Amino acid sequence: SAVEYGLDAPFSVEYHDSIPSTNARARDLAAEGASDVVVLADEQTGGRGRLDRDWHSPSGGAWLSVLFRPDVPMAHAPVFTLAAAVAVTRAAREAGVDASIKWPNDVLVRRGEEERKLVGILTEMEGEADRVSWVVVGIGVNANVDPADLPDEANPTSLSAERGEPVDRRLFTQRLLEEFDSLRQDTEQVVEAWREYATTLGQQVRVETPGGPIEGEAVDIQFPGALVIETESGTEVVSAGDCEHLRPV
Ligand code: BTN
Repeated sequence: SAVEYGLDAPFSVEYHDSIPSTNARARDLAAEGASDVVVLADEQTGGRGRLDRDWHSPSGGAWLSVLFRPDVPMAHAPVFTLAAAVAVTRAAREAGVDASIKWPNDVLVRRGEEERKLVGILTEMEGEADRVSWVVVGIGVNANVDPADLPDEANPTSLSAERGEPVDRRLFTQRLLEEFDSLRQDTEQVVEAWREYATTLGQQVRVETPGGPIEGEAVDIQFPGALVIETESGTEVVSAGDCEHLRPV
């Protein structure tokens, strides 16, 4: 509930017990001219994921969307997705869950060969090429939810499942928002912080893109979020938005 949250965040917070989608609500607030608002919900009834998928959002999760108006060109906006991944990874680690980041924006927990998805991030934006008008970063954290209640194909886990006990959602969300606030104001540090938590670097990967698959060793990431891959025929740079799927090979 809102009482459980009582956040002292660097954003104003709009809390809903249940809402179709915090991203949709944040977009409406953007259209009304708002900024620096977090929309937070215990449950979403129409949560949206990347590539037009549904995002299951039962009660107990930390489903939130941050609306802000950064002074950056449109091409730099993907850095805020990475910033969210870093912020949520730090907050999860502080809560005792050993999370890491799979490029571009999955936060997961590894157990041996297995990777279980803990968080999904969906960034939406509007503006002109030379200047973003608004950005909505939607962050879906499987916080206190039973992975058995989430669709299998995502291979999901949750903070509570990893810890063996519920997480304090107020504290967790507060830390996440504090980290995100600091990273969004200093985007240069995002890529460096991201490298520290990335599982992808050094891996042989295959990335599906609109222009076809790219296979090779993931060697680095570049501002504002592209993956650098050494292929047999040379170096390829894949932007985060062009990644339809990435798997180790
Ligand atoms: C993904 O496909 O991995 C991204 C999932 C993003 C889900 C979050 S939950 C909060 C916000 N509201 C939504 O409808 N989607 C995002």
